Amino acid sequence: MSQQAAEWQRQGLKIALVPTMGCLHAGHLSLMHKAVALADRIIVSIFVNPMQFGPNEDFGSYPRQLEMDCRLAEKEGVHAVFCPDAQDMYGPSFQTKVSVANLSQGMCGADRPGHFDGVATVVLKLFHLTRPDVAVFGQKDFQQLAIIRRMTADLNLNIEIVGCPIVRDPDGLAMSSRNKYLQGESRNQALCLSKAILAARRLVAESQTEISADTVISQTRELIAQAGAKLEYAVVINKDSLQNESVITEKSVLAIAAKIGGKVRLIDNARLFLERV
Ligand code: PAF
Repeated sequence: MSQQAAEWQRQGLKIALVPTMGCLHAGHLSLMHKAVALADRIIVSIFVNPMQFGPNEDFGSYPRQLEMDCRLAEKEGVHAVFCPDAQDMYGPSFQTKVSVANLSQGMCGADRPGHFDGVATVVLKLFHLTRPDVAVFGQKDFQQLAIIRRMTADLNLNIEIVGCPIVRDPDGLAMSSRNKYLQGESRNQALCLSKAILAARRLVAESQTEISADTVISQTRELIAQAGAKLEYAVVINKDSLQNESVITEKSVLAIAAKIGGKVRLIDNARLFLERV
């Protein structure tokens, strides 16, 4: 992969990387589509990264479908699929980790200790191996995107980081490889995340006065509980700093994580401010 990327660089071609863990869905395809518009050579990495999974998480059962993924990527105009195995990425003496300290602390970082160190470490390795000019990520992993932007700036990586909007099923569910785990009633219950976000946006749009984050969060809690899901967090944060906000501003994002059917952990987020209707 490195040699190929170096060769493309020598030819003056602009390289875009779309890092993924595979099990590609329309959300991933939208990232590839964006990458095709931005660069001459598109690399998709597919690597289920053991370093970002906790001991009781779903590393073993994470859905894998490499052949199908390669076909999908090819159809989108991708030039190379890079799918290293864990031994290639983490030799027996591996001991380095990249930690984006503050941004990794709250939200998913609080629920999944060490997760973002695993993400930052593997993304930095993927950047070195594939030498991209631009890298494209989804905004569903809002905290991840902020962490990668911070790492890229802090380490002077000279890579443009592009975030793409969440792609949703027609009924609103944000696309995720983990949606594969949802069966029967769980699929229905999972809609509570996007419904809570929609309700929050409506609350903000319809309010004539300033609205507090607490009001939005209480309503969110209620809706998630009513659906029978288990809320892990609901926060109103500034889109750039990820700091909690007390009142809703143009920069406010509502971010939610909830466990569906007692075990499938899903996340979703959206800007809260809408034009008044
Ligand atoms: O978002 C993902 O799929 C992963 O966290 C990433 C960025 C590919 C790193 O393993």
